[in-house]
Amino acid sequence: MQMTDLLIMLLVGAGLALLGVLAWWLLIASEGVYLGRRMVIWLYDLFANRYDRVKNYVREYEELFLAAPLMQRVQPQLDPLILDVATGTGRLPLAMMRNRTFEGRVIGADLSGEMLRQAVRNLYVFEERVDWVQCPAEHLPFPDNTFDIVTCLEALEFTVNPQATLRELIRVLRPGGLLLISQRINTRYMPGKTWTAGEVLALLEQNGMVEGQAQIWQTDYRKVWGRKAGESRPVGTKALADILRCPRCQQSNLTRRSEGWLCAGCGAKYHLRADGVHQIMV
Ligand SMILES: C[S@@+](CC[C@H](N)C(=O)[O-])C[C@H]1O[C@@H](n2cnc3c(N)ncnc32)[C@H](O)[C@@H]1O
Repeated sequence: MQMTDLLIMLLVGAGLALLGVLAWWLLIASEGVYLGRRMVIWLYDLFANRYDRVKNYVREYEELFLAAPLMQRVQPQLDPLILDVATGTGRLPLAMMRNRTFEGRVIGADLSGEMLRQAVRNLYVFEERVDWVQCPAEHLPFPDNTFDIVTCLEALEFTVNPQATLRELIRVLRPGGLLLISQRINTRYMPGKTWTAGEVLALLEQNGMVEGQAQIWQTDYRKVWGRKAGESRPVGTKALADILRCPRCQQSNLTRRSEGWLCAGCGAKYHLRADGVHQIMV
């Protein structure tokens, strides 16, 4: 073998290795986020039926570290209306349903139809108290100041603009309402998508939040709490029909039809899947 052949082989090998590392980073380490929202959702759709097995959450811990502290912070209210953005397979709704004091309702929102399919299965016994909405975290189909609690766990870093998504979560929270998000600690592989605890607390403050607090939680995530400045009466349990807003014309006049929803303002139609997932997307 000539010297030039060897050099070419080495170069090709190095190029392939580099491509492999790039593909691993783009698709696995950063879960497609640098390739756009469609890629993120496509990957979650693809792996939805394996998600719970991989995460293997201990249900007792979820109740202890998520539901119990949420209920402690909103007491004496027992029936908060909760929006869990990027709910995945229903982790937060399930933790809430296992909490004995919780008497409220949860709306689980996610853009991945397949993750929501798993969520419906995981919570079928609680179907009276949970609604599932397929929509993007960046454009939530709800008016301002709608929820007593808004949560978003392990997901902000997978959105195209985490800061804008955070503002959207705060928009739908009522004054005095409680926010719980997660802040990724392992930031090595996601430049520009993650914050330090100091940065996320400063961001909350800039966006009208008070009582910011970051807490140790899991290996990869901190829990970050905040309360929306101001005061308002607790919302309590409300039906989806009373709070949905048309994402096309931004009017709150969606009427329920057998096959979904119709906006009386702009005529837009939204589909209701056979398993009960409301697809409220433009
Ligand atoms: C790591 S999972 C977290 C799921 C759940 N919160 C949990 O803690 O198990 C991230 C979720 O974010 C959802 N997601 C990613 N980008 C989204 C977006 N732009 N809008 C709505 N959901 C999104 C994915 O479909 C996925 O279900």
